Amino acid sequence: MSVKNKPKTLKYRSIAKSLSLWFQTHARTLPWRSHPDPYSVWISEIMLQQTQVTAVLPYFKKFMTHFPTVQDLAHASLDEVYVLWAGLGYYSRARNLHRGAITIAERLQNGQGFPQNREEWLLIPGVGEYTAGAICSIAFSQREPIVDGNVVRVISRLQSIKTFDSKKTVIWKHALALVKVPSVQPEVLNQSLMELGALICKPKNPNCSECPVSQYCSGQKYPERYPAPKLKKEWKLLQEHKWILIHKENLSGLRVYFEKNKKGIWREGLWDFPNAGVILGLKTAKVKEEFNLRYVVTTHKIERKHTVLELTAKGLGRLQLNGSWFSTHDLPGVPAPVKKAILKLLKTRES
Ligand code: ADE
Repeated sequence: MSVKNKPKTLKYRSIAKSLSLWFQTHARTLPWRSHPDPYSVWISEIMLQQTQVTAVLPYFKKFMTHFPTVQDLAHASLDEVYVLWAGLGYYSRARNLHRGAITIAERLQNGQGFPQNREEWLLIPGVGEYTAGAICSIAFSQREPIVDGNVVRVISRLQSIKTFDSKKTVIWKHALALVKVPSVQPEVLNQSLMELGALICKPKNPNCSECPVSQYCSGQKYPERYPAPKLKKEWKLLQEHKWILIHKENLSGLRVYFEKNKKGIWREGLWDFPNAGVILGLKTAKVKEEFNLRYVVTTHKIERKHTVLELTAKGLGRLQLNGSWFSTHDLPGVPAPVKKAILKLLKTRES
């Protein structure tokens, strides 16, 4: 080893040790941490992509109760998965988990077991470099690095890094050096980086006085400068007009018509209201009300106009429909904006 590299190696070792020690006394008790088997870790890491721990908790518990094994998930329909995912957002994750479960169940049937290393995990739909590293380190104790938003912030501040390339090469290099420190456990080290980012090294007002590695942090004086703030999101405006077809089931019940979304923001198979004007045979429906709602979905600002049309039994018979009717007491897995529109509709009818 060259003399030039020596101080860096020492620093990695001290940082890795301090972080691991801190994690052992400060880590939150989270359900996927009590049994870090590959199935639970995989599910939790997919749910945690772009989503806060507090939002994930109830979904993770429901999901694991409903699908306790990868075979249970593989044998379920995508609609069943959507019901449990509804409201968590980024629905391609649910589709990938379902496809991934089918792939893993086939592996199990062929006697191959769960994917065992980074390369094998990267073949599972929805698993990228971050998720593969998280699963291999947390479930298999392999010295694989991870880089997510929290890790980027922690390392950028430790090393005063303002900018990096789109692959975050320099951040991965430091994450690798930390997880390779022989005296720390990879699952502890990686989770300690994420935990520090979530609890102490927060984007705004980091709590440097409580930080176990503040003595090694060269960005401490101006932490909010590292990494340099991203350019503002470019919003796309989407204006839609939807029909909410309703039909009175009985005195207390109401049925709503949904179609499977093939295009647009949610794509592939999520239930949604039909676009206005595309129902064949719709002649005699009463316009009950109209309302607009606004939503933000990833980089889209969506303005939706809803026209509520009430159908009689006679009117219903003439319709040529591709979708299905659902009781408002027993909705399928719909995205949060669709649920909001239903709640608004029910509230107006109650008052
Ligand atoms: N964010 C993503 N994965 C996480 C984990 N395992 N622990 C805490 N935060 C996380």
